[in-house]
Amino acid sequence: MSDLQFDGRAVIGGQRVGAVSGATFVCLSPVDGRVLTEVARCSGADIDRAVVAARSAFDDRRWCGQAPAQRKRVLIRFAELLLKHGDELALIETLDMGKPVQYARKVDVNSAANCIRWYGEAVDKVYGEVAPTADTALALITHEPMGVVGAIVPWNYPMIMAAWKIAPALAAGNSVVLKPSEKSPLTALRMADLALEAGIPAGVFNVVPGFGPEAGAPLALHMDVDCIAFTGSTRVGKQIHVMAGQSNLKRAWTELGGKSPNIVFADCPDLDQAVKAAIHSIFFNQGQSCNAPSRLYVQAGIKERFLEKALALVPGYAPANPLLADTVMGALVDPAQMDTVLRYIESGKAQGARLVAGGEQVLRETGGCYVQPTIFDDVNRDMAIAREEIFGPVLSVLAFTDTAEVVREANASVYGLQAAVWTRDLNKAHGVARALRAGTVHVNQYDEDDMTVPFGGFRQSGVGRDKSLHAFDKYTETKTTWIRIDSPL
Ligand code: NAI
Ligand code: MG
Repeated sequence: MSDLQFDGRAVIGGQRVGAVSGATFVCLSPVDGRVLTEVARCSGADIDRAVVAARSAFDDRRWCGQAPAQRKRVLIRFAELLLKHGDELALIETLDMGKPVQYARKVDVNSAANCIRWYGEAVDKVYGEVAPTADTALALITHEPMGVVGAIVPWNYPMIMAAWKIAPALAAGNSVVLKPSEKSPLTALRMADLALEAGIPAGVFNVVPGFGPEAGAPLALHMDVDCIAFTGSTRVGKQIHVMAGQSNLKRAWTELGGKSPNIVFADCPDLDQAVKAAIHSIFFNQGQSCNAPSRLYVQAGIKERFLEKALALVPGYAPANPLLADTVMGALVDPAQMDTVLRYIESGKAQGARLVAGGEQVLRETGGCYVQPTIFDDVNRDMAIAREEIFGPVLSVLAFTDTAEVVREANASVYGLQAAVWTRDLNKAHGVARALRAGTVHVNQYDEDDMTVPFGGFRQSGVGRDKSLHAFDKYTETKTTWIRIDSPL
């Protein structure tokens, strides 16, 4: 680890540069509170520089002018370089945001690389259309890159969230200005180095670290940015749409919060599997996943048995140093997020929920940010822990009796990201899945995931979809070209 080098400078126009103002911020590790490095504290002037670099790269067509098959080769090389540097990237990620290094390597690095490879491989396989018009003309429908795409991403899966935006945007031929979260800026900066090494031309992919209001807002407000793609809180997501509207009506796409319901009927085909999935999916990544199934509805009759099995799994998620190879629960991203989570735990207790596991900060002596996996039983719909996104290892258990009632309760949320239903009754599975207002519904599992399927939510979980070929729609404009045909016949 002593060999690990951090470079906190921005990447603009293919160069490593400090902020114009010279300002930096300190990047602290939630593993043990140590200072990792100083990072460029970028603001409006830096965003301007990055947008100018991105615009000139787009205008001279150094990237969008390359054949799709050539962009494919470069993106595949980029993905391979991420894998080649996988151990280094995983270690940086763990130090910067606290997730277990085994998952940083196996999940974050691999999925980010896979995403970039997937869009690279796809880009020379998508066709335009010829419209079914009369013989007097030909109408071509083509999809063109938008120009300069701004991306603002969070800290929970820094590399994956970046990849979900930059891969389709770059594959389609756009230039990108990426602002990583101030809580986890380091891997995005390394990704930009590796993109250059792979052959993505200077200026096409820029990374500008900094705080939301100082660096994110100028990007979302910029008059020369054509599209802004955001993942983060619903609160800021709403501001992104406002900023897009009050500036140049740039296309705005948001992937926001969730409070996903997980409904387990008494006729669940495999209770052990349902318990395992419920527990793993809420505690994975220290509960900092937008799609975590944080509302667990268990049908009366099996609730006691379900909880007993769930409690038996909790010790397996005891927080430990995420740098150790077999740790499954690491540190929360920073002291502020830990305080938010602990406040929600206090509110659960104060509002009368029954704490049946965890509830405490632990490993204080390390100087890091660790919270026990926590389960509340007897939660009711009016409690904050049943309604609000906690973004920590806290599960709320609610009982239900009848199907119509649980669907109504599950849908009574401002969010609509994901949902799950567990039953062996095919009619009930389909009927409930159809009635749930969510971008993704899981039946008898919660783990399936693939680049081939769209990811995103209904309602205040955001606008637009990441992943799959549908994501190209976000980063391209649709053009019609009419050509007159004077028939010689
Ligand atoms: P956030 O929404 O403030 O941050 C996400 C990104 O937006 C970061 O890059 C941040 O710098 C940027 N940002 C913040 N304010 C901005 C502004 N005014 N203009 C432009 N960009 C801005 O999320 P935060 O504070 O890190 O986490 C707070 C809560 O948000 C979490 O507890 C969780 O509930 C939710 N969240 C949801 C995520 C998801 O995947 N849906 C990811 C991260 C957080
Ligand atoms: Mg950090």
